[in-house]
Amino acid sequence: MERGMIQHEIVPIDLVKSYSNIPERGIDYRLNKLYKKEVYWRQRDPYLGFIMNYTGYDILALNAIVKADVLEALGPSIGVGKEADVFQAVSPDETVVAVKFHRLGRTSFRDTRRKREYIADRRHISWLYQSRLAAENEYRALQLMHEVGVKVPKPIHQNRHVIVMEFIEGVQLSTIISLEEPEVFLEDILENARLTYGAGVIHTDLSEYNVLIDTEGEIWIIDWPQYISTKHKNAEETLRRDIGNVVNFFQRKHETEMTVEEALEFVKKGND
Ligand SMILES: Nc1ncnc2c1ncn2[C@@H]1O[C@H](COP(=O)(O)OP(=O)(O)OP(=O)(O)O)[C@@H](O)[C@H]1O
Ligand SMILES: [Mg+2]
Repeated sequence: MERGMIQHEIVPIDLVKSYSNIPERGIDYRLNKLYKKEVYWRQRDPYLGFIMNYTGYDILALNAIVKADVLEALGPSIGVGKEADVFQAVSPDETVVAVKFHRLGRTSFRDTRRKREYIADRRHISWLYQSRLAAENEYRALQLMHEVGVKVPKPIHQNRHVIVMEFIEGVQLSTIISLEEPEVFLEDILENARLTYGAGVIHTDLSEYNVLIDTEGEIWIIDWPQYISTKHKNAEETLRRDIGNVVNFFQRKHETEMTVEEALEFVKKGND
């Protein structure tokens, strides 16, 4: 079904059967069993076929990750965003890790009306591809940033639309009411932005929501799937927006005095 999804909106039943290499009776039994577990949807018009859903895709990814000896068990949800679900989990050596499921173009349909609308909407054909791409991009960014010393969760593994990374015991900067020395945190974030820029990368979604502060008071920059190169045609304005978000947040909420211009100069220092 997964292979069929690349070419087909609704994967024809015959294709699923031929890809599976399982005898006719065996495959019908398995398909029914999986249908009851709601890992795919059946469609009769305009031909009989299947649509894999996120439950199915999650299971395929998790199965591969468990077989690679990276995960032992999933824990509680620690973040539900528009475009991702993040869970705590444990690895076989009992390390606590974070697991991020990218979900672009997500649809969940409990009723048939929504299901019909979904099938009529041709854009959904690429959700699987988009989500995998987001995970691949984020994993690559984390690797690169980790190498140059930017404070990011250490990337551990990626499969399909899922990444496994170091778990940060902390809270979003946005939720912190008061900081003793806000200037120090701001400078720390800008130093990380400077290293990022030096590595040829711009985060593009930098804000108080994508900075975590851990129990030791260390800052961590998260949420990298949409990063761009400093050679991108919108690099300049994107960097300005990223830095502006952070500087303005600190001015507004923590009464710091550094301006966006000063911050930009700092970020570019030694990098031009
Ligand atoms: N490595 C991690 N360790 C601890 N918590 C994390 C980690 N990664 C993410 N989280 C938690 O999950 C939340 C969501 O993660 P992230 O910002 O990466 O995705 P998102 O904001 O849901 O994505 P989108 O912006 O596309 O909606 C974070 O704000 C944070 O609270
Ligand atoms: Mg985020």
